[in-house]
Amino acid sequence: MKILITGGAGFIGSNYIKYMLKRYLDYKIVNLDKLTYAGNLDNLRGVEGNKNYTFVKGDIADTMLVGDIIKDVDVVINFAAETHVDRSISDPADFIKTDVYGTYVLLEAARIHEIERFIQISTDEVYGDAGDEPSKEDDPLMPRSPYAASKAGADRLAFSFWATYKTPVVITRCTNNYGYNQYPEKMIPLFVTNALEDKPLPVYGDGKNTRDWIFVEDHCHAIDIILHSDGIQGEVFNIGSGTEKSILEIADMILDMLGKSNEMIEFVEDRPGHVKRHAVNTEKLRSVLDWHPSIAFQTGMERTIEWYKENKGWWQKIKSGEYLEYYKRMYGKRRRIESR
Ligand code: NAD
Ligand code: TYD
Repeated sequence: MKILITGGAGFIGSNYIKYMLKRYLDYKIVNLDKLTYAGNLDNLRGVEGNKNYTFVKGDIADTMLVGDIIKDVDVVINFAAETHVDRSISDPADFIKTDVYGTYVLLEAARIHEIERFIQISTDEVYGDAGDEPSKEDDPLMPRSPYAASKAGADRLAFSFWATYKTPVVITRCTNNYGYNQYPEKMIPLFVTNALEDKPLPVYGDGKNTRDWIFVEDHCHAIDIILHSDGIQGEVFNIGSGTEKSILEIADMILDMLGKSNEMIEFVEDRPGHVKRHAVNTEKLRSVLDWHPSIAFQTGMERTIEWYKENKGWWQKIKSGEYLEYYKRMYGKRRRIESR
């Protein structure tokens, strides 16, 4: 099988490429990545020399390039996206260009070249606030940030290609991932690396908003099962571990695991439109495709924290230059608020 993975230099994409190359010794993988601030070839160390792996630097919104690559592949898995909610609030344009238009370019090439499967990596953010019950696949989409709205556009565009042209699309909506090589502007790696640097952990609002957290390898396993399952075209699958934690619970856990004081928590002005709860019902994935998460949150967090402790070079290189400007822009003006 020859697979086009887009966004393979990012967090989940790079973990997925490593997972697949290890598991399927005869599969060929092409990684198309624009190498934005979040794309990092250091995430693929040890993979570059693999004869089954090819890297192409480029944009998923580049019609010529995408057509040229897709004509030779069997399957497309679209991870490429602008992914950070906070950045989408301050500057949404790239989210629309990549997440919506870029996905359209990939779908159109997939339709023309009649590829065998197109997996759209969507997100549980498309549901908006879960409210009292974890979101189900047929719940209405009520995205609350420009990121979530762009992903919802891509998600439904992918579905429309199945409904209209029978392009064999499958859509996944996963909850928050954590693990190795996650860019340290997302909550868990930000808190872990700040704690390691003895810097404050910026908790938004009262810290009570919750997310359902999944270890990235469990997500990779779910995508692998979806890739190899027949008869699921046009379907949407939620992916999640059912481990709901508040921001504050995670900040406390990280500080506790690193033997640091919880005085390092700094409550800051909330994110506009901040979703109170993201959680998904994964009954469909469990019953139809027999997938189950295998890494408990405590184990996954121990592994993750260990990885950031042992790979200081990886994140210290990122947390310099442009990142420091970003940090100042994002957190410098944020009002401090009363702590618990
Ligand atoms: P990431 O920000 O770490 O990586 C995104 C990658 O996409 C980067 O390598 C970047 O260079 C690349 N990219 C961006 N624009 C591009 C373009 N125009 N053309 C080609 N490449 C481009 O993101 P991630 O956390 O690994 O997320 C991957 C996918 O999974 C995204 O589609 C995201 O919406 C989805 N997702 C993420 C989570 C999560 O918790 N991280 C949860 C559910 C779904
Ligand atoms: P994030 O990692 O940005 O993922 P998402 O918004 O896509 O769920 O944020 C996860 C949670 O952590 C979310 O409730 C916002 C919160 N958060 C903070 O409290 N402080 C921070 O500095 C960041 C980046 C996030």
